[in-house]
Amino acid sequence: MRVILDCDPGIDDTYAIIWLTAAAHAGLLELDCLTTTSGNTHAEQCARNAAWVLSLCGLPIVPVAAGCPEPLVCELTTTPETHGETGLGYATAPEREVARDWDTLWCDAIERGTDDLYLVVTGPMTNLAAFAEAHPEHYAELKHITVMGGAVNYPGNTTPSAEWNFWVDPHAAAEVFATTPVPITLCSLGVTERMLLTPERLERCVGALGPLGVAKQLPEITRFYFEFHEEVGEGYRAQIHDLLAVLIGLGFVEHSGRVTTVDVEADSPLMRGTSVADLRGIWGREPNARLVTEADVEAAWGWFDWACEVHAKVAAGDAELTQLRHRRAED
Ligand code: RIB
Ligand code: CA
Repeated sequence: MRVILDCDPGIDDTYAIIWLTAAAHAGLLELDCLTTTSGNTHAEQCARNAAWVLSLCGLPIVPVAAGCPEPLVCELTTTPETHGETGLGYATAPEREVARDWDTLWCDAIERGTDDLYLVVTGPMTNLAAFAEAHPEHYAELKHITVMGGAVNYPGNTTPSAEWNFWVDPHAAAEVFATTPVPITLCSLGVTERMLLTPERLERCVGALGPLGVAKQLPEITRFYFEFHEEVGEGYRAQIHDLLAVLIGLGFVEHSGRVTTVDVEADSPLMRGTSVADLRGIWGREPNARLVTEADVEAAWGWFDWACEVHAKVAAGDAELTQLRHRRAED
């Protein structure tokens, strides 16, 4: 299994990267590349953040590139109030030059085959929509696409009806659902908001991560997100949307869903980013999504605990990693 993560780290994107790097260390998958969109912060800063988190997780070798700097049509809005001034809460990634050859990375990955290639998008869908326009033949080859986004028949977190990723770039979301070569596995708020991180679990994870570099940063990265959730009435805890979306999209946690047709409103000022699933088939259009309706969140946290264990063993240079690899693969 090879994975492209297209993300906007972003605090919950960081948890997805921690899990993906552990899975790569354990040989469960190959992390082909990380590309970034503007969303939680600017794509270039997201790339700086992603590269830093990769190195803190012992995998600096993974190619990182900044994608489109602006949404397709809308003016860029970022959310420092949610993810912090530079996107990683109270932490700040070191300055560094970032690559921009994101679409070349995608084309190269697609040319190596797509049966085992999984694209997971955990930020606005700007890159995916731009890729569809610039490289239609490669786009048509994609077989596994997962998206974290939308608030389908569920309250929005950005407007009463829109979720952040779809609201930032609604034209990209609408275009991708209109053109996708395969039904998109859609992990929307109704499911991802259940992935709740508590301070107690964070403390356990940081303890389990041991000497790994990211263990030192995670408390300050996450504290900002706890405070944000408390300010918006969710309590002192944090919704780790993107980690759950990755685990669902790659098939590591049990989930259920239904094939349907999704569309996204792009031009109405009031309903911008609102996603609708035609659950009754009234439109009579080709299905373009598999809307996830349930997921085993406890199993997802079990995988994150496993990831912390893997990282600690890698950081300690522990030969038992092989046993751990076999044990988890048998579970
Ligand atoms: O609405 C939640 C999504 O928006 C998550 O991907 C989070 O990182 C933000 O990008
Ligand atoms: Ca994100």
